[in-house]
Order: sequence, then C-alpha cells, then structure tokens
Amino acid sequence: MGDLKNRALRVGIVGSGYVGLTSAACLSSLGHRVTAVDLDREKVLQLRNGEIPIFEPGLDELVADGLGQRRLRFTVDYKQLADSEIVLLCLPTPQGPDGVPDISCIETAARDLAAVLAPSAVLLTKSTVPVGAHHRVREWLGRDDVVVASNPEFLREGSAIADFMEPDRIVIGANDPRAIGIIERLYAPLEAEIQVTDVTSAELVKYASNSFLATKLSFINEMARLCEATGADVDAVARGMGSDRRIGNDFMRSGPGWGGSCFPKDTRGLTSVASAVALELTITSAAIQSNEEQLDYTYGRIMSLLEQPPCASTIGGWGLTFKANTDDVRESPAVHLTKRLVASGANVMTYDPAAAKEATPGTWAEDPYAATQDADLVVVLTEWDEFADIDFGRLALTVKRPVIFDARSIVDAAAAASHGFTVHRIGRPTVFPLAEDSAGYFDLTRGLMLGAEIASTEVTAGDAVP
Ligand code: UDX
Repeated sequence: MGDLKNRALRVGIVGSGYVGLTSAACLSSLGHRVTAVDLDREKVLQLRNGEIPIFEPGLDELVADGLGQRRLRFTVDYKQLADSEIVLLCLPTPQGPDGVPDISCIETAARDLAAVLAPSAVLLTKSTVPVGAHHRVREWLGRDDVVVASNPEFLREGSAIADFMEPDRIVIGANDPRAIGIIERLYAPLEAEIQVTDVTSAELVKYASNSFLATKLSFINEMARLCEATGADVDAVARGMGSDRRIGNDFMRSGPGWGGSCFPKDTRGLTSVASAVALELTITSAAIQSNEEQLDYTYGRIMSLLEQPPCASTIGGWGLTFKANTDDVRESPAVHLTKRLVASGANVMTYDPAAAKEATPGTWAEDPYAATQDADLVVVLTEWDEFADIDFGRLALTVKRPVIFDARSIVDAAAAASHGFTVHRIGRPTVFPLAEDSAGYFDLTRGLMLGAEIASTEVTAGDAVP
C-alpha cells in the first residue's frame, strides 16, 4: 500500500510560465515523469537546452537535473499528454475588463485537451481562476470520465521553489475520492498538510489569501503614514504588533505600496466575483484604495525632498522590479513612481540588478553609482540586498546632494549618515549626518545620538542637526 501511495505519476503540465515551470521542475525532482506543454515553440526549444526564460533562483539547476534524469521533457504537442494520469493547468489568467480574470487561455486548453486526455485522467486547475470556473472548464472539456479539480498555487516569485517544496499547506478542491487519491500521491513526497475541500472553496482560498495579505500590507502602510505624522517608528510598531502570534511578523514591511502580477489582479478579481453576486467587499476595496494612496503619498514625499523644480533635478533611482529577487516589473510600484517622476520633468536615472533596461521610463545606468551621478536625490524603490551593502564613501563622490529617500528602509542609515548623507524613510525617523568632528549621527525623532562610538547617548533635540 505504501508503495502505491508513493508510486511516481505521469504528469502533464500545460503552460511553462512561473507557475508551470516551477511545478514541472519540482514535481520531476520529486520523482514524477513530467511532460510540460507550451505553445511557444521558441520557449520550448530554449527549455530543452536547459535555458530558463525567467529569473527564479535555483530553477535552472532543477530543470537541468530533470532533463538529465529524463524525468522532465518539454513539447509543443498536446498529444504528448495522452498517457498523463494527471494534468495541471498553469496558464495566464490576466485581468480582463471590470477586473474579471480573462480565462480564454484556459478555455482553449480545455477544448484542446478534450480529444487528448486518457480515460479517467484528472485535470487540475492551478492557475488563479474566478470562483466557480470549474463548472465552465467541465463544459469546455465535455468529458464525463475526466475529473476537474482545483489545486491553487501559493508560490512567491523569488522563492517559488522553497514555497513549492515546503508549503504551509496544500489545498485540494475535489469531490471524487479516486481523484483526491491521485492528487495526494502527486504531493506525497512533500509530507505537507493537505486540506481537501469542495472545488469552489479551493478556488476562493487563493483569492482570499492574496486579498488578506494585501490588506495586511495596506494596513501597515497606513500605520507608516501615521507614524510619520506622529513621530513614531513603524519598524518598532510592526515588531511590537508582530510578536503577537495572532498577528505575526510576516508581511509587515511597509514600503511604497504593493504590486506584482498577483495582488493587484487578485484583489480586483475578488471584488468582481463579489459584485457578480451583489456583494460589496468594503475591506478589500479599501485595501486597494489605500494602496493607491500609498503610491501617491510616496510620490509626494519624493517631490517634497527636491530643492529645485523637478525639471531642474536629477534623481538616482535604485530598483525597478516590484520586489527583490525577481526580474518582474508587472504592476511594480517602482516603475509607477519612476514614470511619474519622469512625467514631472525630472531627469531620472535607473539601476536595477535584474530588470530589463527597456523597462525603465527613465535612463538606464549600469550600476548604482552610475545611476546617482550628479543626483540631487537618491531614491530607493526596491529592497535588493545590493542596496543594503552600498559603499557610501564612493556614493558621496558621485552625488550632487547627499540626500537619500529610502522607500524600503533597506539602506544602512547609520553608515550613510557617517558619510554625510541624510536618510529619509517611510514611517521612520529621518537620520541626519553629524558635523564632521562628531562620531555618530542624529536621529531627529527620537532625540538620540546614535552611532558606533556613542550609541544611544541622549542629546537635546536640535543640537546636532546641520
Ligand atoms: C504573491 C503571494 O505571496 C503568493 O502566495 C501568490 O501565489 C502570488 O502572489 P508575489 O506576487 O510573488 O506572491 O509577491 P509577494 O512576495 O507576496 O509580494 C507582493 C507585494 O507585496 C510586493 O509588491 C512586495 O514588495 C510587497 N510586500 C511584501 C511588502 O511591501 N511588504 C512585505 O512585508 C511583503
């Protein structure tokens, strides 16, 4: 019995984007025989050579391993899925009109698979589809012998492999015991918690999870604005709140606003699903609105730090991707802000370690120092590690004015201040440099002297502010 439970499956994957490719590589590494279909011939040729079209740490090794072990193959031909025991739909479901996800790719695939799938195969929807979409998938497929089930993915870009291999939970939406058994076999090597639900609930779990996380971020971003207005430090507030296990420390980093390929689409997707049944989700709607306000607020902060009109200002922009460890710029707050700064007339130079240079609305620079040449202001928009590790001595020689606006609170403010920089952050005290003969820097809000030699020595506010 144990052997049967762990027996490798013949798995088909439709779509080789972030979710499909990660799933294909991880499932093959778990011992399954995986066939991944993608209609993009060029991409398939690339993948057969082990070339990965996306930036995802660790994926190249996993794909190379799968190809080498002959447990992973890529094709453009749906017929290669004829012997698959289970097929995972991992196709894009972009936002359509009125926020309703466009599932035309799923329709085309379901219709194509109808003629191909083996009797009694399981068709699993991994893509984020509108609640209730499985009814339509069943219609398009038109096959009573094939079970349509839902298995939402919770993969984050940049840590997709770890998220797949060590999931907090696996949600299976299915009502057929044999199909549930096959899906459990798919994930048996992970030894993760499996939650079996009805199909509609599984579809909703994905939207509800992403909307909840987006709401949590909107909340902490609002607290950051309040901290700034009252002189509190959002870092301390988030730590104090997060230590309560009911709240938790994850997703508590304030920033310029949330973005990416999922949160904006899924929050709007959820509100559109609700409107279809005459319900208004006021909390999710407010989280979306609050996120737009956070972007406006961040833009206003940047503008307020320019001494000259924007058209006479040069801004060095660090970061373009929607978060670190990805090359994805979809719905990126960094792109949004860069675009607005360029539109204001400012000369904006951009550096990002992974984004394509064409993605910047400004001028591309090859490294963080080139991006800040003669800059009146350095703006940190994405939390790349590289920006935590800057040589401020070198930076001081490139900028015109030593002022940093760190929207991600990633820069080492003490090190920056010791080289003469003033560091502004969202929801946190501004850190000022000290006069040249002083050791340490002045933290205006707390009225404290901070620094290597005299950390936490109380001073009178104003003493050391230049
Ligand atoms: C998200 C979900 O986390 C994942 O489960 C789902 O499958 C896809 O959508 P992803 O879009 O890759 O993943 O990014 P995530 O790491 O969740 O970040 C989303 C946004 O929130 C980014 O803009 C990020 O910068 C922002 N964020 C995240 C913060 O501002 N602060 C935080 O503490 C965490």
